[in-house]
Amino acid sequence: MADGIKCLVTGGAGFIGSNIVDALVVAGHSVTVADDLSTGNRAQVNAQAQFAQVDVLAAEFEHVFAEGGFEVVYHLAAQTDVMTSVEDPATDAQVNVIGGIRLLELCRKYGVRKVIFSSTSSVFGEPDYLPMDEGHPIRPLCPYAASKHAFEHYLHLYSEIHDLAYTVLRYANAYGPRQDPHHEGGVVAIFAYKILNGAVPIIYGDGEQTRDFVHVDDLVRANLICLERGDNSYYNLGTGIETTVNELVALLDELSGAKAEVEYAAGRRGEMRRLSLQSARAATELQWSPTVGLCAGVQSVLDYFKEN
Ligand SMILES: NC(=O)c1ccc[n+]([C@@H]2O[C@H](COP(=O)([O-])OP(=O)(O)OC[C@H]3O[C@@H](n4cnc5c(N)ncnc54)[C@H](O)[C@@H]3O)[C@@H](O)[C@H]2O)c1
Repeated sequence: MADGIKCLVTGGAGFIGSNIVDALVVAGHSVTVADDLSTGNRAQVNAQAQFAQVDVLAAEFEHVFAEGGFEVVYHLAAQTDVMTSVEDPATDAQVNVIGGIRLLELCRKYGVRKVIFSSTSSVFGEPDYLPMDEGHPIRPLCPYAASKHAFEHYLHLYSEIHDLAYTVLRYANAYGPRQDPHHEGGVVAIFAYKILNGAVPIIYGDGEQTRDFVHVDDLVRANLICLERGDNSYYNLGTGIETTVNELVALLDELSGAKAEVEYAAGRRGEMRRLSLQSARAATELQWSPTVGLCAGVQSVLDYFKEN
């Protein structure tokens, strides 16, 4: 195997993390995954990666660093469930903030050069304008978004006081193969899975709410670019295109050949009406722009569920 860069991927058994791990391995890097498998799946961890089943909050997490000699750490391990964060904000902060600080202390102790952090467009809260750029005000509307944003501040201060480089990547609505259809959040995975299995997707509200769906392959590419670029900066990663939930269902119908029944239920409190992200800074500084269109992207999800 090529020498490559020694990377640690926390949360590397999850949806986005496991896709990043595959791409790092293909690019010839040496990869270790640390994941407690709370929502991740061991079977989707690349066979060429080292695997440690460990909670980022556990004392044993340090062993992974002591043995790894990592240059770059991808940090994806997180409490990602918005409802859980509302019901139990302390646990959310424990994983997303305290777990993150523990990780930064280990990076400092073991001489890591850079941390690449998977953050979220939900840090912005309700949009003042669309598409939202990096200068948009930050007003998190749930503990999950607040804890992700809090950790962004720690990354910045570790770069200032300890010379630990970072890149923050704020994703719009990620979708693609390996997204878990049994969790909240991943509307493409949930609807695709239901439609293929003859179940009825439930649309909360009138279905005219919009999302900015960005494919995991595009997010993975941005993450690999950040091995070389984007130090000490933060980037929005989205398509800038708004798609309504009704349009998504129509596309799933068309591509799957199903004529899905849908059920409309009362809108959910706190849910955003519209979302799209402007990624001009990533285009200029990372030479990144999204390449997977919604049609091909949704097809990749349908294909994945048919095969698995
Ligand atoms: N999916 C999206 O639309 C989206 C959007 C914006 C940001 N993100 C961020 O991307 C990252 C990955 O999200 P995902 O959608 O792949 O979720 P996921 O649940 O598939 O992945 C998270 C992984 O972290 C692991 N994990 C959780 N808590 C842990 C802990 N305490 N110690 C060790 N491992 C732990 C889980 O087992 C899982 O494998 C998260 O940080 C999330 O906040 C996701």
